[in-house]
Parts: sequence; C-alpha cells; structure tokens
Amino acid sequence: MTPMRLILLGPPGAGKGTQARFLEQRYAARQISTGDLLREQRARKTPLGQQAQAYMDRGALVPDELIIAMMEGELSTTGAFLLDGFPRTVPQAQALDVLLTKLGRPLVAALLFDADRRVLLERLSGRWSNPRTGRTYHERFNPPRVASVDDDDGGPLVQRTDDTPEIVTERLATYAALTAPLVEYYRQAGVLERVDAARPPAEVSQAIVGVLERRAAVVR
Ligand code: AP5
Repeated sequence: MTPMRLILLGPPGAGKGTQARFLEQRYAARQISTGDLLREQRARKTPLGQQAQAYMDRGALVPDELIIAMMEGELSTTGAFLLDGFPRTVPQAQALDVLLTKLGRPLVAALLFDADRRVLLERLSGRWSNPRTGRTYHERFNPPRVASVDDDDGGPLVQRTDDTPEIVTERLATYAALTAPLVEYYRQAGVLERVDAARPPAEVSQAIVGVLERRAAVVR
C-alpha cells in the first residue's frame, strides 16, 4: 500500500481531528496535530509551550519559525502521516515542500474539509475532549456514554479554552486571512481534494476513502 502522506486542511471545527483518528487506524499513518503538540508543550510548561500560550489564547497563529522547527523534528522520523493543523500559512507550506523533497516523500493529497460557518460554530460550542489523549466528543452529535467522562479511559472531558464564541470568531478570521490561501496553493500543486465535511462523520470517512483510493493509485 502507498504510505499515506496527507494534509488535513480546513477551518476550526470542520472535523479534521475526528477524521484523523479514523484515518490513522485505516492507513496505519500517524496523526501529527500541531494543536495537540502545542497543548502538550503548554501542559509541560516548556519554553515553546509558554511562548505559544499567548497566541493560542487569543486565537492567533503561533509564529512560523517555532512551528516549522517543531514539525521538522516530527516529520523526519515519520514515513506515513496525517498533518492536522499544519501547514497553516504559505511560509509553512513552502517549508514543508522543501522538507518533503529532501526526504523523498511526496504528498498523496491535501484534503480540504468544507463546512459553513453555522456548522463550525455548532460543532465547536458542543465539543468536549480528553486533554490526555486528544479524543473528542460532541454533546449532541457524538456524546460520551457518561457526560464529561471519556468512554476509553474514564478520564475527565473538558471544553477547550479557545472554544468560546469570542475566540472562535478570531480563529475563523485568522483562518480566512492566513490559511485559506493554501487552498489555491495546493490546487496549483495538483493535490487538492475537496470533501463535504458537513455530513455525518461516517459519511465523511467514506468520502475520504473514495478520494484516497483514487489518489493513491497515481502516487508512487
Ligand atoms: P488546533 O488544535 O489545530 O485547532 P483548529 O484547527 O482550530 O481545529 P479544531 O481542533 O478546533 O477542529 P477540528 O477540525 O479538528 O474539529 P474536530 O474534529 O475536533 O489549533 C489550535 C491553536 O493552536 C490555533 O488557534 C493556533 O493558535 C495554534 N496552532 C496550531 N497549529 C498551528 C500552526 N500550524 N501554525 C500556527 N499556530 C498553530 O471536531 C469539532 C467538533 O465537531 C467535535 O466535537 C466533534 O465531535 C464534532 N464533529 C466532527 N465531525 C463531525 C461531523 N461530521 N458531524 C457532526 N459532528 C462532528
């Protein structure tokens, strides 16, 4: 099987993390979520975590040089990957191109998760997650068996501090200004695939598998 090397591109709440969990199992590829890595650094109070905190708390992006250095380390040791939340700016995408060329590992696809603002707001306002494992739930669409408790490990579920309406508004504006240009970037590179992310999770998964089967056949 062609090793999966994917970018999951799309606005906050589109379901990138949710689908990454499914794709990890299906394709034996590692999810690399820059958001999860940064939250882990914050929890451990590392210098990177402390630098990132102020940006994340206001819905802004962490500076490119910090993210690129972090991702170079992660990618050099990973053959099959799902990039969740990276790249998020044109300079990050250019740095990724350089790195993948050096490693001889071309992308299979950049999947664009397409959903409108109303759907995104509804999803983010009802999201609960396990800070230890990153697994997410939704109080309406995918509730845990017991409220606020993870089905897997029984750990507490929390709401992210950047999921408040004010910060979500900032995150969506940041996405539109800095990340949306990557749609054209990857379209021109010939790897963009659009997925209707407003459908239920299992239908989104199925649509992605269809796209990937077609793409993997053309990438060697
Ligand atoms: P990050 O953690 O990457 O957040 P994000 O991109 O805003 O994405 P989310 O995790 O909010 O959404 P998602 O698409 O994964 O949705 P999910 O699957 O959880 O980044 C956080 C911050 O870190 C940034 O603001 C920035 O400061 C910093 N950062 C990160 N990367 C950076 C970078 N590269 N450069 C600079 N700074 C960076 O789903 C959402 C909810 O909907 C869940 O409750 C889920 O259960 C539910 N759901 C999912 N799919 C469906 C469905 N199909 N139907 C119904 N409900 C669904």
